Amino acid sequence: MSAWDPQLYLTFSSERTQPSVDLAARVQVAEPRRVIDLGCGPGNSTAVLKARWPSAAVTGLDSDPEMLATAAQADPTTHWLQADAATWQPDETYDVVFSNAMLQWLPGHADAVTRFFRAVAPGGALAVQVPTHQFSPLHRHIVEVASDPKWPTSLRGVRNAIHGHDVGFYYDLLSPLVERVDLWETEYCHVLAGPEAILTWIRGTGLRPFLNALPTDADRREFEADLLAKVTTSYPRRPDGRVLFPFRRLFFIGYRDR
Ligand SMILES: C[S@@+](CC[C@H](N)C(=O)[O-])C[C@H]1O[C@@H](n2cnc3c(N)ncnc32)[C@H](O)[C@@H]1O
Repeated sequence: MSAWDPQLYLTFSSERTQPSVDLAARVQVAEPRRVIDLGCGPGNSTAVLKARWPSAAVTGLDSDPEMLATAAQADPTTHWLQADAATWQPDETYDVVFSNAMLQWLPGHADAVTRFFRAVAPGGALAVQVPTHQFSPLHRHIVEVASDPKWPTSLRGVRNAIHGHDVGFYYDLLSPLVERVDLWETEYCHVLAGPEAILTWIRGTGLRPFLNALPTDADRREFEADLLAKVTTSYPRRPDGRVLFPFRRLFFIGYRDR
C-alpha cells in the first residue's frame, strides 16, 4: 500500500512548492547538465528544477509508487526512478542534488547528507530544504492526542516520524566537506481557509502514521475531531474567517570545489 496520497498532498500544491522555487533560485551552479530531485513526490519540485535548468537532464527519485505514477502522468518525458533515499548510492554524479521536504522522513541525517554530498560532481551543489515544523503547536497536539489512554494499543509505538536538527548541526556536518555553504531558515505564513484546512494539510503528511495505526474509520474520525479541537484553539480564525498557519523550514546549499 502506498504511504502517500498524491491528490491529498497536492491540495496545497502552491504552498508546498514555493520552498523549491526559493531554494532552486539560490543555487549558483552554472549550466548544470545532470540534476536529481530526491523525494520528488508527485513531481511538483521536479517541475521547478526543469523550469530553472531547461537544458539539464533531470531525474526524479522517490520510494513511493503512487507518487511516481502521478509524477509520470503529469510529465512522461522526465526520468522517474523508484529508489530508497535511505540507502541510495548512485554510480554517477550529479551537478545538482536537490531535495525538498524529503529529508525529514529519513533517520540518520549525518549519514544521509554525507552520502548525498558524495553524489555531487565537482563544481556542483547539494541543495536541501527540510521542514523544522516539528516543534509547532500542531505537532505538539498530535502527540498529545495520541497519548490519550483511550486509544487501542496499536497507537502506542507510533511516534512523530519527523526528523530534523538545528542549523548548527547541518553547518558542522557540511563545513568539512564543502567549498562553501549557504544556510537559512524561513517561516512561511500560510493563509488557510480555516482550522479544518490545517487538518487536511497534515493528513497528507505527518498525520498518516497515526491514522494508519488506528484500526477503524470511527477511531480515525475521533482522533481527527480531538485534534481539530486543539488546532482551533492554537490557530484561531482571523476576523475574515481564515487562519494563519506558520510553517518553519530550514535550507542549506553545500558547494563542491572543482
Ligand atoms: C513531503 S513529500 C515532498 C514532495 C516534493 N519533493 C515537494 O517538494 O513537494 C516527501 C516525499 O518524500 C518521499 N520519501 C520519503 N521517504 C523516502 C525515502 N526513504 N526514499 C525516497 N523517497 C522518500 C515520499 O514518498 C514523498 O513523495
